[in-house]
Amino acid sequence: MCGIVGYFGKERAAEILVDGLEKLEYRGYDSSGIAVFQNGDIDVIKCKGRIQNLRDRLESEDMSGVKGIGHTRWATHGEPSDLNAHPHTNKDGSISIVHNGIIENYMYLKEWLGGKGYEFLSETDTEVIPNLIDYYYNGDLFEAIVKATNKMEGSYAIGVLCKNEPDKMIAVRKDSPLIVGKGEGETFIASDVTAVLKYTREVYYIDDNEFAVIDNDGVKILNEDGIEIDKEISHITWDAAAAEKGGYEHFMIKEIHEQPKAIRDTMTSRIALGEDVKLDNIEITKEDLEKINKVYIVACGTAYYAGVVGKYVIEKMAKISVETDVASEFRYRDPLIDENTLMIVVSQSGETADTLAALRLAKKSGARVMVITNVVGSTMAREADDVFYTWAGPEIAVASTKAYVTQMVALDILALHLARLKGTITKEEGEEFKKELLALPEKVEDALKHKEVIQKFASKNYHVKDMFFLGRGVDHAVALEGALKLKELSYIHAEAYAGGELKHGPIALIEDGTPVVVVATQEKIFDKMVSNIKEVTTRGAKVLAFATEGHEEIEKSVNSALYVQKTHPLLTPVVSIVPLQLFSYYMALEKGCDVDKPRNLAKSVTVE
Ligand code: F6R
Repeated sequence: MCGIVGYFGKERAAEILVDGLEKLEYRGYDSSGIAVFQNGDIDVIKCKGRIQNLRDRLESEDMSGVKGIGHTRWATHGEPSDLNAHPHTNKDGSISIVHNGIIENYMYLKEWLGGKGYEFLSETDTEVIPNLIDYYYNGDLFEAIVKATNKMEGSYAIGVLCKNEPDKMIAVRKDSPLIVGKGEGETFIASDVTAVLKYTREVYYIDDNEFAVIDNDGVKILNEDGIEIDKEISHITWDAAAAEKGGYEHFMIKEIHEQPKAIRDTMTSRIALGEDVKLDNIEITKEDLEKINKVYIVACGTAYYAGVVGKYVIEKMAKISVETDVASEFRYRDPLIDENTLMIVVSQSGETADTLAALRLAKKSGARVMVITNVVGSTMAREADDVFYTWAGPEIAVASTKAYVTQMVALDILALHLARLKGTITKEEGEEFKKELLALPEKVEDALKHKEVIQKFASKNYHVKDMFFLGRGVDHAVALEGALKLKELSYIHAEAYAGGELKHGPIALIEDGTPVVVVATQEKIFDKMVSNIKEVTTRGAKVLAFATEGHEEIEKSVNSALYVQKTHPLLTPVVSIVPLQLFSYYMALEKGCDVDKPRNLAKSVTVE
């Protein structure tokens, strides 16, 4: 996720662009930059860090041009740096572009263009775009962009300037958002309306494969054949804060809805049917793997619960013994680590102090260290031997949702990779698993549809003091995460137990009216879960059960039931956590809690 803006008018573009980028900072904030037509050239200023750094840089620059583009970055390919920041240009700087999205075939395009004499300076996927446009440019920018986009695979919203056509700005999108704002004698482009609301409320929502061609007469929306599309203009009535959240009331609910895309992006270019798993920054070989006799997964909080699921998946698929531990415990328990250990740390931020300390301890003890993180260039990403980036985009709400599901998907892909390297699953089994992985985004989308039932259950139960969550196997991991979400968001005391453990003590807590959430998605142990449900309902518990479609008989034993679509048993947590996230969200709303910033919590815990 990144944000792009563009301005074409009569005012100083630099100020308007930076102002717009600040509104889009929630889309990414590790580096930013602008490009402005100036004295017959395109001047580019870009730098690492928050947008304030760009503002500071601009103070000493004479940027008086009135047409330009800008970008705020959330790194995916290449760490945050001045060089990797956008805008990117072709070699002579005559074409400058900003891009939001991922060019999936950028490796191929780099090689292809390299063969034609093109050179690349950055580590980004984006840099292929200005060079591709340059390759096709023959005096007609529109035509060159059409040809370039035909060659690009992946997602993009791009804004383009060309020195030879200083009275033009072109933008196009595919699978990344793009709007055009229409002002009085000025036109804007942006990733979302927040960036332009200060100047205009009249916008076009650009659809896939539509080109916005902006010149001194205004804007024309064209298809790739250059034929004008008759587009309706929309009048925005939202305020800026609502627009930043894409019309959602809170970042958390927006991020819950972004999960299908986050999962899709995390799988993009890594798995495809009929092909081996491709992991750019993971170099572990079959020989390395033969030496590994122990795997640790170490993390904190929600990331730890993703690791609990990871243990099941890696053990089952790659047949290696895995121990999952919370980082703050791991580092003080003198864990047995040596050069035959593989340490996987999981961290959205890549900066959590306890997890970082565990990573360093493992490295010092000779282990091979892998990190799964959402932040490119974070300390953990820099210090680990291998890196798996979850491409969830920036997570603004303190409670983790989309980062969590992508961490599980990363562990699933990793397990598949290790299993294929070790030969512990056949090619056919691998293909079957991939098929299920690739179907996850739709299943998660479907799970989001239960909003109303969950809202209703929340409105009846928000006043409770205690709540219990039960599950077995990977469902137990989901129950743990479900209970954590409820605690942190609604301040309700919530405990998760393994279904079979209940009778060894916790069942004493169940009394008339105690609400119990049961996760029962595992075919093999479904009946065992039903027995656990009976144990609590006989003692007066009110049960809300989450099962997979086809298990409607559960309704006979519980007060309410919800069904998610079936998937591979090891992948169910990715789908079944979604209604539980919604449940915590609505419970917190009912209680009037600050959903995006729960009390006493911080997004990144960089102290011990
Ligand atoms: C809970 C939550 C936290 C984090 C934990 C680790 O919703 O977000 O429990 O998961 O603080 O943070 P990272 O993943 O950044 O290491």
